[in-house]
Amino acid sequence: MKKIAVITSGGDSPGMNAAIRAAVRVALAQGVEVWGIRNGYAGMIADDMIRLDSRSVGDIIQKGGTFLGTARSEEFKTLTGRQKAAENLHSRGIEGLIVTGGDGSLTGAKLLSELGIKFVGLPGTIDNDIWGTDFTIGFDTAVNTALDAINKLRDTASSHGRVILVEVMGRHCGWIALTAGLAGGAEIILVPEEPFNQEDISKKLLESRAKGKQYSIIVVAEGAGSALELGQYIRANSGLETRVSVLGHIQRGGAPTAFDRLLASRLAETAVRALMAGKTDIMIGFRNNQCVEVPIADAVGKKKEIDPELYRLADVLSK
Ligand code: F6P
Repeated sequence: MKKIAVITSGGDSPGMNAAIRAAVRVALAQGVEVWGIRNGYAGMIADDMIRLDSRSVGDIIQKGGTFLGTARSEEFKTLTGRQKAAENLHSRGIEGLIVTGGDGSLTGAKLLSELGIKFVGLPGTIDNDIWGTDFTIGFDTAVNTALDAINKLRDTASSHGRVILVEVMGRHCGWIALTAGLAGGAEIILVPEEPFNQEDISKKLLESRAKGKQYSIIVVAEGAGSALELGQYIRANSGLETRVSVLGHIQRGGAPTAFDRLLASRLAETAVRALMAGKTDIMIGFRNNQCVEVPIADAVGKKKEIDPELYRLADVLSK
């Protein structure tokens, strides 16, 4: 393979730049020409691509977001859109792709490969919801961002003796909530994977007050429900003074942690080597501190469940 392209797609995540940098430099070291596709699959359809050299990816390892840009493309979901995208790659002589993104982006790559484009995927999303990898690129940074917010909210919650609910991202999955909540010492963690009822939460809060707890932090995964609505319910039903903080897209930005930079660099190197070896339709995952090849059909269309042991521990430690 003489020419490949790198692309980031779907929601951005901290560490995507580190992945692009590593993919480009590993490919260049093997004498391969590298192109960057701008703004995800939308840019592939629009033929918006730039040639990348080693300098093009300098000074980006420490930056959040993706310097190539990203998008969620509706047109790429159609066969006509994908045919246009594949034609653009073929006409430039691009034979393979390194795709960094979440479930939708990797599913898109799988469909594109049916049109003759080889690819290796990297799991890039803050949600950590991709099957076949212990961690996704960006998750650790997002957890640390949420944790920083929880630490700060704890200061003010304790000063005022309030209940503070903090809503975190994660789409349909509770990994960010569980991990940040456990690390932040939250009293209650609500995730979509574990059913709960509002009345029990109010009761639990009143019981913990009776036991001497002066304030409470509740971490709510966005997929578990609205923290604003739950906050209103708690205030009305328990009489406790309640405030709500929805963290939103702040969790998607910021300098990637050392963990995310290393993860991205290691996964990207393995991905380029696999592509060069003629492999396709795989994702490089990270399991037990090793980069592993995961057939793409196994990785997409499934949700990685939260770790029940972590959930149990969070519950024990919240007493
Ligand atoms: O998948 C990453 C994620 O940040 C989710 O946690 C969140 O639900 C969603 O993307 C938000 O998407 P958008 O940036 O399109 O609003």
